[in-house]
Amino acid sequence: MSNEGNALVVVANRLPVDFTVDDAGEISWKRSPGGLVSALEPVMQQADGAWVGWNGSPDLYADPFEADGMTLVPVTLNADEIEQYYEGFSNDTLWPLYHDVIAPPAFHRQWWDAYRRVNRRFAEAAAVQVATGGTVWVHDYQLQLVPSMLRELRPDVRIGFFDHIPFPPYEIFAQLPWRRQVIEGLLGADLIGFQRNGDAANFLRTVRRLTRHSTRGQVIAFEDKTGRAVREVRASAFPISIDSQGFDALARREDVVARAEQIREELGKPDIIMLGVDRLDYTKGIRHRIKAYGELLHDGRLGVEETTLVQVASPSRENVGAYQELRDQVETAVGRINGDYGELGHAAIHYLHHSYPPEEMAALYRASDVVLVTSLRDGMNLVAKEYIAARSDDRGALVLSEFTGAADELNGALLVNPHDIDELKDVIERAARLTPEEQRKRMRRLRRKVMTDDVAKWSRTFLETLEAMPVVPVAPELADGDATEGPSLELVRALDDLAATDGLVLVASDFDGVLAPLVDDPASSRTSPRAARALGRIARRPESQARLALVSGRDLATLAELSRAPLGTLLIGSHGAERGVVTAVGFDRRDVTVTEGQASLLAHITDGLEEIAGRHTGVWVERKPTASVLHTRKSTHDGAAQATEAARALAERLGVGTLEGKDVVEIQVVDTSKGKALDALRTELGAVGVLYLGDDVTDEHAFAVLGSSDVSVKVGGGETIAEYRVPGTTSAALLLEHLGRALEHRSKQRSGGA
Ligand code: G6P
Repeated sequence: MSNEGNALVVVANRLPVDFTVDDAGEISWKRSPGGLVSALEPVMQQADGAWVGWNGSPDLYADPFEADGMTLVPVTLNADEIEQYYEGFSNDTLWPLYHDVIAPPAFHRQWWDAYRRVNRRFAEAAAVQVATGGTVWVHDYQLQLVPSMLRELRPDVRIGFFDHIPFPPYEIFAQLPWRRQVIEGLLGADLIGFQRNGDAANFLRTVRRLTRHSTRGQVIAFEDKTGRAVREVRASAFPISIDSQGFDALARREDVVARAEQIREELGKPDIIMLGVDRLDYTKGIRHRIKAYGELLHDGRLGVEETTLVQVASPSRENVGAYQELRDQVETAVGRINGDYGELGHAAIHYLHHSYPPEEMAALYRASDVVLVTSLRDGMNLVAKEYIAARSDDRGALVLSEFTGAADELNGALLVNPHDIDELKDVIERAARLTPEEQRKRMRRLRRKVMTDDVAKWSRTFLETLEAMPVVPVAPELADGDATEGPSLELVRALDDLAATDGLVLVASDFDGVLAPLVDDPASSRTSPRAARALGRIARRPESQARLALVSGRDLATLAELSRAPLGTLLIGSHGAERGVVTAVGFDRRDVTVTEGQASLLAHITDGLEEIAGRHTGVWVERKPTASVLHTRKSTHDGAAQATEAARALAERLGVGTLEGKDVVEIQVVDTSKGKALDALRTELGAVGVLYLGDDVTDEHAFAVLGSSDVSVKVGGGETIAEYRVPGTTSAALLLEHLGRALEHRSKQRSGGA
């Protein structure tokens, strides 16, 4: 990992490597085969990616390490956590609940506590790992609370979530005692991906039923506690796939083709080899498949000399009761069928309770005439896609359950309702009897789909959609007691549009009451740390993309001293009469426009104001190069009113105007305003879009010169012509932070990165 963190962080329950600990306690690892890791490897390498996940064993501590161009960050779980978070809540509560309650879900409060605890650990690991403004992609049902936990820790990052398994209908999901917490957990993401449109629709309906957030199409308007929509969350389908080219190439390899031939021979060269490949899981419909197959043998519609069924059932979640029961049931059924129908040299079913490396799977697929995917419910089912990718010979038939995600996509498979045993028998027999022509026709259609929509396209589409989401800062914990809201969704969109401008963006802001909270003693006014960070970020953009300007009524020297603006910031002081730029040693004055006549007028003004100040306690005069200012904020109400009146009378006597703000009356000797100065600056720079932030009446002049491609924001209460309003200095800082991020994002996009 670089010092600044990783631009892309994947968070999944498991790391993409298997760990082993030898007798001496030495830990070693080897890459575990998996579609997800091969899909993400290229983007991970390009984006300096990290993968946060569990190493698969209890109490195994390991430091982050580099593997294949990415950083792997192991998360440690102890034995209790494995029991309660992984076997319990993930695989004995959520898994059955999300798979149509095929097995009864168990609800235990201790399991929920462990789930929350472990989710927080994953969120914290990701928060440490990810770079400023980076992207975190969280995977699957084991980690549904991570998005919101992470957002709390790192409001600056983009968060995507992908649910690999089905999302159930509301009526089933509603059984979960912690249903609201799970939904709120997921809604921490900007983008939530599902396998099928139906899953996304179930989720959106659940959001409408359980929360007050409204939805429009696939977009949820996420509301803060005050009921204001502050950001968008999108829920859409992104059907996952496999490394199709890779699998196709593997299955064409000479050794794999030879192994396929060998498998046929070892099985006694039957006419038809049928194949089932599954994790030994009750959702896969293995029992239904075996039942249908047994009945076909019983009915004499298939015979053991001509047909055999190979069932690969890889061990899975063996400490969970429902899986142990399933294993007993499957093995009993296989034993009975083999006993009833098998003959010497002709087993009815070859049952293999192992997992195999990809080479062997590819050979099995090539050797098989029919693959049976009969899941009762399945997020996608990648066995179906692997089989298709392996059949570059355009042969074979796929029996596919309607209840898989794959059924939505794979036109050309023989679809079936696995609960209907008679139909299942008919479809299996039909598949066994498909003519080579029919097989070819169907397989070609299937291959067109699978070879085009591969897993690289899936991850690219997801990440591009995520990058395109408007990302809004979440209201932070506040240090200065200011109002808490971040910018509204409309304002965020306007800022994103501004950042997307082709050409220079001028980011201009008043100082007091916008970047610095108002304080009693104007000399102690300072840019808030949060605003300073946001300004720093904008200042780091190339000068051709963004320029920063502070526009203030303060004189230039004071503005430079108090604001401590980043190097290169343009300064407009004294309402436009003074201009400068921040340098390493202070500031460079650009021009001061005071003639002799103006200087003598200014002397009269200053004397007059001093005289007024002398008559009222708490009233004082500030001298600026082109104006003098009467301050009344420390005076009594009546005193302030009288002093203000006297200053106005003085200005009238001298034939000049006044510029009045909050508890100040300024009398200038040059004809300028923040509006005139801003307009001149924009022209000089050739800025295409301008953001202006102001809190005072004098800022209205600046708002007035803005056009439709600009964004005007009033900070705090009071009448305004600005288009947007935020409540205080913290929200102003948040808004600048967002703009900084949006500008960075834009320039990354232009340079072809991200
Ligand atoms: C499904 C889930 C994955 C999970 C896999 C294997 O495909 O969606 O998240 O990793 O099963 O299950 P296991 O419990 O062994 O991780």
